[in-house]
Amino acid sequence: MKPIKFVSADEAVKVVKSGDHVHFSSVSAYPVILGEALARRGDSGELKDVRIHHLHTEGDAPYTHEKYNGVFFTQSFFVGANVRKDTQSGWADYIPVFLRETQKLYRSGVLPCDVAMIQVSMVDKHGYVSLGTSVDATLAAVECAKTVIAVMNPNVPRAWGNAIIPADAVDIWVEDDTPLTPAKPAEPNEVDLKIGEHVAELVEDGACLQMGIGAIPNAVLARLGNHKNLGVHTEMFSDGLLPLIKSGVVNGLNKKYRRGRIVSTFLMGTKELYDFIDDNPGIYMTDVKYSNDPQVIGKNPKVCAINSALQIDLTGQVCADSIGTKFYSGVGGQIDFVDGANLSEGGKAIIAMPSITAKGISKIAPTLTLGAGVVTTRNHIHYVVTENGAVDLYGKSLQERAKLLISIAHPSAQEELDRAAFERFGPHYTAVNV
Ligand code: COA
Repeated sequence: MKPIKFVSADEAVKVVKSGDHVHFSSVSAYPVILGEALARRGDSGELKDVRIHHLHTEGDAPYTHEKYNGVFFTQSFFVGANVRKDTQSGWADYIPVFLRETQKLYRSGVLPCDVAMIQVSMVDKHGYVSLGTSVDATLAAVECAKTVIAVMNPNVPRAWGNAIIPADAVDIWVEDDTPLTPAKPAEPNEVDLKIGEHVAELVEDGACLQMGIGAIPNAVLARLGNHKNLGVHTEMFSDGLLPLIKSGVVNGLNKKYRRGRIVSTFLMGTKELYDFIDDNPGIYMTDVKYSNDPQVIGKNPKVCAINSALQIDLTGQVCADSIGTKFYSGVGGQIDFVDGANLSEGGKAIIAMPSITAKGISKIAPTLTLGAGVVTTRNHIHYVVTENGAVDLYGKSLQERAKLLISIAHPSAQEELDRAAFERFGPHYTAVNV
């Protein structure tokens, strides 16, 4: 192993040149001090047209702001809360891409990676460090980057699997001991818990779970305490999974791929979660190329892919990335896991969401709002769950789907939806029985 020599963050980011593409590791592994140092370098007027890529990151994202116009331009692979406003107003941008292919953008050379900025665990006695909570596209960025800058931080958990990389993969070292920025899991409300109950009824003993992002996954996990032999193969998980692992409900014994282990590619949670995965061989952090490959996912029986949506139209088209033309998040791994569940023996792809927003907008709509994109197509869709129940749209005709979706819509929206369906499908619609 090469000797490790630390430099300051300001010194490290001097390697970035105008026109470079920079990758940041995701979620809490985002190297805050490198982001801040890069922004300071931007202030100095030495840089122009630097592209920044990342998935969801926690904390501030100073380089996206309008004041860096012409200096930095963020083109993220997912629109997290810290870049949402700037993306919606055009000061930052988004690259639509399946999560499973984020790594391929670098490995195929479609996107160059000049500098990878990552945060890793302490080096072990064998000369290895761990990428901690972000393996996803970060491993590919490390492999492809001309220069890798790593912050070594004792708070980064020593996650196993593909997260372990040789310290020699790093060119420039910086040290920091700031605690990781936690991603506080959303507390499920009453409606979420009701949705959780309906989803839990669909989850059979021995199922292999994937949980997407948002408040719903935790509400579902809170309702699975009496299940048996559950497994997890997911792209991400949060603190809500811990009680089920500790109680033995999640033991992975029915899995065929990495039996007895939890597979994930990034993690979002609090210190409790990060402490739990530290040096834990039961958690296998994998390249997103494997975690999100539908063929790999589908090797496990009874895959339950539980994801959420912003809007669903009466034919079962799911929008999960934008509100009309305004990007709210990204496609993420939703379709990777919907496909995976559909390939799995006894698998179930579930889209779960409240029937109405806090502002009283029905999330089941006659048509998607102008500008909304389809994440899960009407051909992929199977189960849809709201607080009012669960329906399975697979193998159902358009008119049957409309009836089923209206049955789980918010009561205040049902009449208008029914009228819209009648206008669309004509008088035969009223005769349809589901
Ligand atoms: N019309 C207008 N506004 C809507 C809306 C609709 N149909 N549906 C939701 N909203 C608003 C909400 O009011 C809320 O606004 P606020 O931020 O001002 O409170 C916001 O959009 C988010 O809605 P919410 O229901 O709280 O979302 P969530 O946190 O549960 O996340 C997704 C839901 C779909 C955004 C989330 O699952 C996601 O990003 N998915 C990406 C695709 C995916 O599933 N990938 C797999 C995991 S990465």
